[in-house]
Amino acid sequence: MSKPKIFVARAIFPEVISRLEEHFEVQANQADKAWTKAELIAQLHDKDGAFMTGSDRIDADVLAACPQLKICSTMAVGYNNLDIDAMTAAGVLATNAPDVLTETTADFGFALLMATARRMTESEHYLRAGKWTQWSYDMFAGADIHGATLGILGMGRIGQGIAKRGALGFGMKVIYHNRSRLAPELEAECKARYVSKEELLKTADHLVLVLPYSAASHHSIGAAELALMKPSATLINIARGGIVDDAALAAALRDKRIAAAGLDVFEGEPKVHPDLLTVPNVVLTPHIASATVPTRLAMANLATDNLIGFFKDKKPLTPINPAVLAIK
Ligand code: DGY
Repeated sequence: MSKPKIFVARAIFPEVISRLEEHFEVQANQADKAWTKAELIAQLHDKDGAFMTGSDRIDADVLAACPQLKICSTMAVGYNNLDIDAMTAAGVLATNAPDVLTETTADFGFALLMATARRMTESEHYLRAGKWTQWSYDMFAGADIHGATLGILGMGRIGQGIAKRGALGFGMKVIYHNRSRLAPELEAECKARYVSKEELLKTADHLVLVLPYSAASHHSIGAAELALMKPSATLINIARGGIVDDAALAAALRDKRIAAAGLDVFEGEPKVHPDLLTVPNVVLTPHIASATVPTRLAMANLATDNLIGFFKDKKPLTPINPAVLAIK
């Protein structure tokens, strides 16, 4: 029996390609070309499955042009790049890669919070530019982290990881807002108190965004929300671009309506709003929150396990639209 045909959309660890080749006829993209929609369709139209990243978009047009496609397995936990309704309607399974990146991403969220509060990149640029000539009492004086109030918007697994780091490691007071409130035992484990979104915005010294992107969360933080925050507060986004109105944030940073921001994700990335590049009080990183070698390997292996499980006996580990399995 011939092997299912798989397209691997972006470059990935060679050992993962070797694993895939044990089970599938693999067309890989080790040159790491980023595809236009037409190019993606040209690659995918005769494939049974796709190994994808968070940068590759699957929508109704792609699905209509690729009738042989049965599964798209993404090595990301977030899947706003996949039109799940269109996939379900077309009978195409989507899988993602949750859990394996939780702690690594929470580490990064906390690192970005610390770099932002303590003005690390701004001060490094100053030093590299040869501007450091003497000590002064307020040179790059930032905000304290220990004992401060940590606000978390979106309290899934990564949010809970950040809460624990803040409460247990730094003695922070943790408040959160989420669509649904955590069970009491989870709140106790995270030492986190549920508050309204308004109280979160008004009270947090450091506000971390960890909610999934959807039409409902688009611009959850815009000019009105930024206006509620303390002038001394920092805002950290490790969730998705589009959750923050980047133009409004750049204006708030420029006018010092909040103290600083740390951003790993951007609206329309890899493009970055030009105004964000002109304000000094923002730490910018290129969507690397899950980027450690062991974690990226674990994410890629989970995406591979999902493909193997699906084609072997329709048992992927982490399906997003499992209803498709029932009708296939
Ligand atoms: C995810 O998995 O959703 C991350 O954003 C990818 O790095």
